[in-house]
Amino acid sequence: IMEYKRGSTLRRGQWTAFVFLLMIVHQCVGDIRYSITEEIKRGSVVGRFSQDLGIDVKTLSTRRPRIEFEGNTRYCDINQKTGDLIVNERMDREELCGQRPSCALLFDFFLENPLELHRVTLEIQDVNDNFPTFPNEVIKLEISESAIKGERFSIDEALDTDTGVNSVQGYTLSANEHFTLSVHTSADTGKYAEIVLEHELDREKQDELSLILTAYDGGKPQKSGTVVIQVRVLDANDNVPVFTQSIYKVSVPENATLGTAVVTVSASDADEGANGELTYEFSHISIKTKNTFSLDPKSGEIKIKTMIDFEDTSSFELRVKAKDGAGQAASCKVIVDVADINDNAPVILIKSLKSPLPENSPAGTEVALIYVQDRDSESNSKVRCSIEQNTYFKLSPSIKKHISLITAVELDRETQSEYNITLIATDEGYPPLSSFQTITLIVSDVNDNQPVFDEQSYSAYVTENNKPGSSLCYVTARDRDWRQNGTVVYSLLASDVDGDPLKNLFLLDSKTGVINLAGPIDYEEQPIYELRVLAKDGAGLVSYTKVLIDITDVNDNAPVILIKTLTNPIPENVAPRALWPWR
Ligand SMILES: *[C@@H]1O[C@H](CO)[C@@H](O)[C@H](O)[C@H]1NC(C)=O
Ligand SMILES: *[C@@H]1O[C@H](CO)[C@@H](O)[C@H](O)[C@H]1NC(C)=O
Ligand SMILES: *[C@@H]1O[C@H](CO)[C@@H](O)[C@H](O)[C@H]1NC(C)=O
Repeated sequence: IMEYKRGSTLRRGQWTAFVFLLMIVHQCVGDIRYSITEEIKRGSVVGRFSQDLGIDVKTLSTRRPRIEFEGNTRYCDINQKTGDLIVNERMDREELCGQRPSCALLFDFFLENPLELHRVTLEIQDVNDNFPTFPNEVIKLEISESAIKGERFSIDEALDTDTGVNSVQGYTLSANEHFTLSVHTSADTGKYAEIVLEHELDREKQDELSLILTAYDGGKPQKSGTVVIQVRVLDANDNVPVFTQSIYKVSVPENATLGTAVVTVSASDADEGANGELTYEFSHISIKTKNTFSLDPKSGEIKIKTMIDFEDTSSFELRVKAKDGAGQAASCKVIVDVADINDNAPVILIKSLKSPLPENSPAGTEVALIYVQDRDSESNSKVRCSIEQNTYFKLSPSIKKHISLITAVELDRETQSEYNITLIATDEGYPPLSSFQTITLIVSDVNDNQPVFDEQSYSAYVTENNKPGSSLCYVTARDRDWRQNGTVVYSLLASDVDGDPLKNLFLLDSKTGVINLAGPIDYEEQPIYELRVLAKDGAGLVSYTKVLIDITDVNDNAPVILIKTLTNPIPENVAPRALWPWR
């Protein structure tokens, strides 16, 4: 009777009916229990019913046996011929009882003549007919690569509608490098699994991994169900950008035009999205360098912004930073070597010049010390020097890469008193550049020339009784030296033969060399005079000549002077008294 109370779903009317039955059924036999496994076939025998109840099979059919279930489904029936209780309807334990640990169907068995009521309990045994199943075929997990070891990620539990050992008993996880399995038992839901991070993830190495979680039950045979756990590793911007090269070294000719691309730096970032998006910028760079180059923040291309000049800066060092969206940065070095172009002509510098140079300087005397520079480099700066005409001068290497201009011969001022020496400096660039410089050298005088008379000797013819003061002749001596070194002064020397009186008869103008008659001459007294004339230059060099004065004894004829060297003009400062008598 107690069993009835469990039928809480019985309707009130049924209760009434049972109460009525209790009153009329006098023969109420005790409960009977059968146990069957679920899902057995229709017609299968559950139990030897009539035998168990002690009812004669022969009379069974006459007693109108019937089974009454609480619901509409008649799960069992009675075979009136054999008296066996047989299965009438498939019984699914899970359908009937869900997850309840025990499952039993209750029904009443009625017999009439006399009325009998038997309460039958049909226990339905679970059969491991269900697989553990996960709610979804795939479980998607997103785990940041920054997740640390020991972090746990719970997985939806697997369900197995079977009960007891036939329900989920445990889990296994496919072999993998990163996760281990931890299984928990919870009071109301059973066993559930967590995956535990054992070895940290690295998105850049593996951005996705698949694990297979298997849930198994304890039935025989065992059944299992699997789920794929897809782990997507989320980026944690744990990667700094990396340049393809830490140092970029390039060479650019100094005549490169504006806008010439020098180099393109490139960095990569293994991170995703904004974390991996890079922008380039200069860092730690001098203002001058910044003004010289431009950098494309997106492409990393470096171009020339202002003209470069090797002679000004032969090498630039740039630092370029690549920054990702989250601010992680890396830097690289760019060395831009400026290649020299032969754009500078040599420059000739005269360091010292000895001008005027005395003419008696010996051959090899240094005239000038020359230095040639070329701002270019290497062969562009290698300079060869030469001089236009090299009869009198030559070049010779001197101290500290200087060049000496030296005399090749002893110079003679009297031949050439000034030289324009043109120096030519040519570099070895391609094309070569040259420059010129002219040195004017003045040769100064040395008194190296003595006066030289135009004639070895002079003769003059004069008639006696000529008036004193008349000019007889003149002598000329030349001195090729300069100024006083070349200024000639004439004087009469006392004649060895005639002695002093000579001086009273003839006068020699010391400047002009004109000889005048100073006193009366008498043919009868002396028909011929020999004068010795001295020419002396400003520094004391002397020359001598002799002048023969031939006296003619013709009283009615004017004295005549015959001078061979009339080609020499008379100096303009000759006194009027020296005019020729016949003019
Ligand atoms: C730079 O100089 C070199 C050598 O003189 C020459 O060949 C080249 O054309 C020049 N480039 C420019 C852009 O002027
Ligand atoms: C040297 O050059 C100067 C200036 O050009 C010129 O006046 C002079 O006559 C030249 N001298 C010689 C000897 O050529
Ligand atoms: C004349 O020659 C002397 C050396 O003999 C020299 O010292 C002097 O400077 C020269 N005078 C002139 C004006 O050239």
